[in-house]
Amino acid sequence: MRLRHVQGAKELIHTNKELIIDDIDHTPINIKDYFTNDNEIHIEIGMGKGQFVHTLAKQNKDINYIGIEKFDSVIVRALEKQLEDKQDNLLLLRCDAMFLPKLFEQLIVHRVYLNFSDPWPKDRHAKRRLTHKNFLNIYKELLAKDGELHFKTDNIDLYEFSLESLKEYPMDIGYHTYDLHNTDFKGNIMTEFEEKFSKLGNKINKLTATFKE
Ligand SMILES: C[S@@+](CC[C@H](N)C(=O)[O-])C[C@H]1O[C@@H](n2cnc3c(N)ncnc32)[C@H](O)[C@@H]1O
Repeated sequence: MRLRHVQGAKELIHTNKELIIDDIDHTPINIKDYFTNDNEIHIEIGMGKGQFVHTLAKQNKDINYIGIEKFDSVIVRALEKQLEDKQDNLLLLRCDAMFLPKLFEQLIVHRVYLNFSDPWPKDRHAKRRLTHKNFLNIYKELLAKDGELHFKTDNIDLYEFSLESLKEYPMDIGYHTYDLHNTDFKGNIMTEFEEKFSKLGNKINKLTATFKE
């Protein structure tokens, strides 16, 4: 995602502390300070401007969502959506996913979504891919036993890398398609990148996976 400085982003984030957490020094988060029920928690990592997770939160009031994004210039767009159309079951978190173990010592989530994650095409950057085994270690700690990882991308190289990385971990692949928009999959929610790249004719790959015992 091309980044530019967004005027006032930090200020808007810091004046809406009940809607968004800004991880500055990796202080642990007590999720009960934000969600007052015991509903399942689903998270999206690298949510960008938040269209996907905001729509999910609106559709599924019995699930709590955390939308995670590392750049304030991007997450501020998700915050604007919340300010316009507030979903009580959605919390935004500005942090790098690598710090999730420090932020959430006790948290159990039932689903992790990764949508159109940065592909990092150079081999020397493979560790930055959100489906690299170092990140899978983090998701394993967070996910409940039957919890699922859901991953979508139009980038075939990242998709093939991810399939291999997950199988080797080892994870079980459940659903898997190279062309989501030409299947009978119901209820797909489009992300900003999905809208952009499917309009260009790119096929959308999707998989779901669970950790083996
Ligand atoms: C290509 S964009 C996709 C955005 C959105 N998911 C979509 O499909 O429209 C990937 C996003 O992931 C974020 N990201 C990448 N690595 C991250 C990390 N380690 N922790 C949190 N966010 C990350 C980037 O800042 C970027 O906004």
